[in-house]
Amino acid sequence: MIIRRYIKSDIDEITKLARNLHVNYTFDLNEFSSCLVCTENDCIIGFITYFILYEKAEIIDIYVKMEYRKKKIGTKLIKKVIDECYKKDCENITLEVDINNQAALDFYYSFDFKIVARRQHYYNNGMDDAYVMEKKLR
Ligand SMILES: CC(C)(COP(=O)(O)OP(=O)(O)OC[C@H]1O[C@@H](n2cnc3c(N)ncnc32)[C@H](O)[C@@H]1OP(=O)(O)O)[C@@H](O)C(=O)NCCC(=O)NCCS
Repeated sequence: MIIRRYIKSDIDEITKLARNLHVNYTFDLNEFSSCLVCTENDCIIGFITYFILYEKAEIIDIYVKMEYRKKKIGTKLIKKVIDECYKKDCENITLEVDINNQAALDFYYSFDFKIVARRQHYYNNGMDDAYVMEKKLR
């Protein structure tokens, strides 16, 4: 299992996985954002997208293939991002998560993310709310 920064030829596979999260997903990173992938036998089994904008960092998406969940792959991906954010002296990392996504909430709690706000009608055509979570780094 290898964790590495994405390369251009990964984009189709990342997009396929990400469409499980957002039906119309398109891979669209800018100069501040990036993506790490986890591969096994040259297949992508998980990824994380995020941006670091000076002192602010945000996790955009994290996804691990169903059959590889609960094997600490998400942990390895998010830890790399957290380390990078510490190195770049970010103040905090934020993210948004569906309030009904208990697995993701428990995952983020385990890295000391805390709920700081609730956005109404954020997901699922306005059916579901999101929590904004924050991990303070300093
Ligand atoms: C959230 C997600 C990335 C976690 O990845 P993962 O590789 O399965 O997580 P890990 O094995 O590293 O789990 C680390 C910790 O998170 C928590 N956790 C992870 N999955 C959990 C679950 N299904 N239920 C409860 N807690 C969970 C646990 O505390 C776990 O530690 P433990 O295994 O010692 O109990 C994965 O479930 C996923 O891809 N979900 C679908 C996509 C998604 O919802 N992304 C987040 C959108 S905001």
